[in-house]
Amino acid sequence: MDEANRTAATQKAFNAWQQPGQAAYDFRSDTMTSPTASMLEAISNTTLLDDVFQEDPTTNDLERYVAELSGHEAAVLVMSGTMGNQVALRTHLKGPPHSVLCDIRGHIYNWEAGGVSTLSGAMLVAVQPANGHHLTLEDVQKHAVVSDDVHACPTRVISLENTLDGTIMPLDEVRKISQFARQHGIKMHLDGARIWDAVAADAGSLPEFTTCFDSVSMCFSKGLAAPIGSIIVGSKPFIAHARWIRKMIGGGTRQAGVISAAARVAVDEGFGKGPRGEGGKLRDSHARARKVAEMWESRGGELAKPVETNMVWLDIARAGIPAAEFARLAADEGLKASGGRLVVHYQISDDAIERLGRVMDKILQNSSKKRKVNGH
Ligand SMILES: Cc1ncc(COP(=O)(O)O)c(C=O)c1O
Repeated sequence: MDEANRTAATQKAFNAWQQPGQAAYDFRSDTMTSPTASMLEAISNTTLLDDVFQEDPTTNDLERYVAELSGHEAAVLVMSGTMGNQVALRTHLKGPPHSVLCDIRGHIYNWEAGGVSTLSGAMLVAVQPANGHHLTLEDVQKHAVVSDDVHACPTRVISLENTLDGTIMPLDEVRKISQFARQHGIKMHLDGARIWDAVAADAGSLPEFTTCFDSVSMCFSKGLAAPIGSIIVGSKPFIAHARWIRKMIGGGTRQAGVISAAARVAVDEGFGKGPRGEGGKLRDSHARARKVAEMWESRGGELAKPVETNMVWLDIARAGIPAAEFARLAADEGLKASGGRLVVHYQISDDAIERLGRVMDKILQNSSKKRKVNGH
């Protein structure tokens, strides 16, 4: 039995809420974080009233709290990051012809089952950032369709993502794009699944980022470790309409206190108790991500992207290792990894990082042997 399976079995034998278990060895994503004992305690003390009728105090409090924290009027709980993006975009997009401009690497373009075209009937204009890092105002101006021409499909929403692949879109660029959008009557949406991480990296406070947007979707179930849930913030009329769309797609839940109690603990303990993530756990994840990157570089490896938050992109292609082989070598050490992207979350153990060092040794020793054989 490998380490990951052994810890999974241990989870069954003891109380799974008391320890991260398998999550401590899982670098595939921060979605693998395990809900904590304090979340279980909050769930057992939660209120159990109906959220479709907006009667549940714990859910109402969470919505009020996150709206205030992010400088918006209102908020609505949703089940997932995908639901957050799709409900927000459907709420903005009133009628065709309409298009949404986003980064070509964005989640809404690549990983939401084509939902924007199915649910909103909108065209997605996916833009390659010219600087290879983040979209700029120049990229947006070049690709936004601001036109009454009947042949055109006007841009109605600019949908940004922050962090994207763990990298940060700087606040001054977000502000410039937001100003451009407002000048042209274009709505701004943020896929802020990991905006918490941009804030914890001191790129700006939560409201500095979130008030640049008409809607923001933020996840509780990634690095913050809640079992379920995301939230959309926006104006009161926007959120009232979003609640309607959420109902339409089956996202209205009844005793939602079991979700929102854990989500509130995730925000307070994971992100922290203030607009700059004061006292949260993400800064430590970022420091550990930098440590993982240093371990790789000190052994002669190269990075495919800079480490700005909790993701480390090892350039395994340059090291001559296919993703499947990397995953296999990691599995031999009891680790879960899907390829060169390593996502570091606060539940990753010191032991897992040590084991990762041994995986790196194997890969980089092999690749330096290959280089010697090839004469460079
Ligand atoms: C940037 C981003 N947005 C949205 C989502 C979707 O979240 P969910 O898996 O909760 O639907 C993810 C998922 O990993 C994500 O990385």
